[in-house]
This record gives sequence, structure tokens and C-alpha cells, in this order.
Amino acid sequence: MTMAELGAGSRLRRLDWYGDLYSEAIRAGRGPLFLCRSDGWMLPLEIERWCADADEVDQEVLRRCRGSVLDIGCGPGRFAVALRARRHEVLGIDVSAVAVQRTRDNGAEALCLSVYDRLPGEGSWNTTLLMDGNIGIGGDPTALLRRIADITAPDGLLLVEVANMDVDERVTVHVADSNGGRGDHFAWARLGIEALSRLASDTDWRLDEHWQVDGRGFAALRAPSPPQHEKRR
Ligand SMILES: C[S@@+](CC[C@H](N)C(=O)[O-])C[C@H]1O[C@@H](n2cnc3c(N)ncnc32)[C@H](O)[C@@H]1O
Repeated sequence: MTMAELGAGSRLRRLDWYGDLYSEAIRAGRGPLFLCRSDGWMLPLEIERWCADADEVDQEVLRRCRGSVLDIGCGPGRFAVALRARRHEVLGIDVSAVAVQRTRDNGAEALCLSVYDRLPGEGSWNTTLLMDGNIGIGGDPTALLRRIADITAPDGLLLVEVANMDVDERVTVHVADSNGGRGDHFAWARLGIEALSRLASDTDWRLDEHWQVDGRGFAALRAPSPPQHEKRR
């Protein structure tokens, strides 16, 4: 199946992640927009930063990327664009059609697909990215790490941004703006480095390194090796 066919096939059943509020913010390049829990906790979504060029903190991620890169939940695509400029083979995927279009407008390749859809090059990506809290996608990080093990090449790298605090939560959230607008509920998760390390070892990923810059935390995980009998085939 070609990349174009994959994209076309999934367009019909694709709904934007946060609904219209997220699409409008990404289209405009600005918030304010918040991720909200039912108990009143609110996390500002950094739409302006996501829509800008990769910053100094992002550079630390970019320089760790090796070979071909799949940016999962690429948003408006600042990582994909910067990686293309560094001559990596790179593809962004996102369930938001507006985010995908913005990534393409910025000059990188992107497809409107979920990480749980059939993806181009499954099992061959040298590096996969989960930036800006994307370990929360789907609210089930164990399932997400297992899924990404199928997508990433054996012994490949997964670079993950973690919450910069000791947190391990599965939550139902919605997006809200500052004018009383709110989107549908969806499942999300937040993990700090301790929680990610535990889940990584439960799912056969190995923690290679973790680092913090400017109040943001990251981890590099090494993908499971194929079982010995598969290596011999
Ligand atoms: C917290 S934002 C991250 C933004 C992005 N990393 C950036 O640099 O702008 C989460 C992104 O993941 C996308 N997303 C949510 N669920 C997804 C899924 N199942 N597969 C792929 N992308 C998804 C959302 O549409 C959104 O753009």
C-alpha cells in the first residue's frame, strides 16, 4: 500500500483529537487552550510553542535522533520540519487533519493517521518520537509502548517527553478555551520518569538515558531485540 492510499483510506474515519477547538487553535497558531480534568485541574497547552520552530530544548532531542524518524502525534510538525532540514527521512503522523496540513505546509511529509492504524514502514523506523506529553495518547501507555515496539526497528530508539514531576495517572480530560468552549472527553495519561521506567521494563524497552532541560524532562528508550529464533531466520 502506498503512503497516499494509507492517508486516503483513513480520512473518512478520522476525527480530530480535541475536536474543533484544537483545530482552530492550530490553524490560528495560538491559544489559550487548556487540557482539563473533571476536578478542575487545568494544563495550558503550548500551542504557540508547538507552532513555532524547534527551540533550544528541542535541539537536544533532535541531535539524539538516528536514521529514519517517525514523529507520532506530530502536531503542526516542528520536529518533522527540523529533522528534514537535517536530512533525516522523516514522517509525521497525527489524527488532526489541520495539524497534518500545517506540517505539510511547513515542508515536511505527514499523514492523517492514528498510531494504532496500519503505518508505512512498520518495524523499520530507526527512531520514533513521543513529544510534548504524547506518551499520554489513548490513556494507556502500556498499550502504546507495545504498539510502538511493533513500529520501531529492533534495538531502535524511542525518545519520550515525560512530565517533570513524579506522576503516574490515567485520566479523562477535555479541552477548553478561555471563552467557555469545551471539547469532548477523551482518555489521557501523564507519566514522570519513574513511572515510564517501570512501564518500559514491563514492556521489554530499556531505559538508555534521561535528561532535563529548562524544566522539561525526556527519556531515550531502546526497543526490544527480536527473539533469537527470529534473528536466525
Ligand atoms: C500534546 S499534542 C503534541 C503536539 C506535537 N508534538 C507538537 O510538536 O506540536 C498531541 C498530539 O497528538 C495527536 N494525537 C492524539 N491521538 C493520536 C493518535 N492516536 N495517533 C496519532 N496522533 C494522535 C493530537 O492530534 C495532537 O496533535
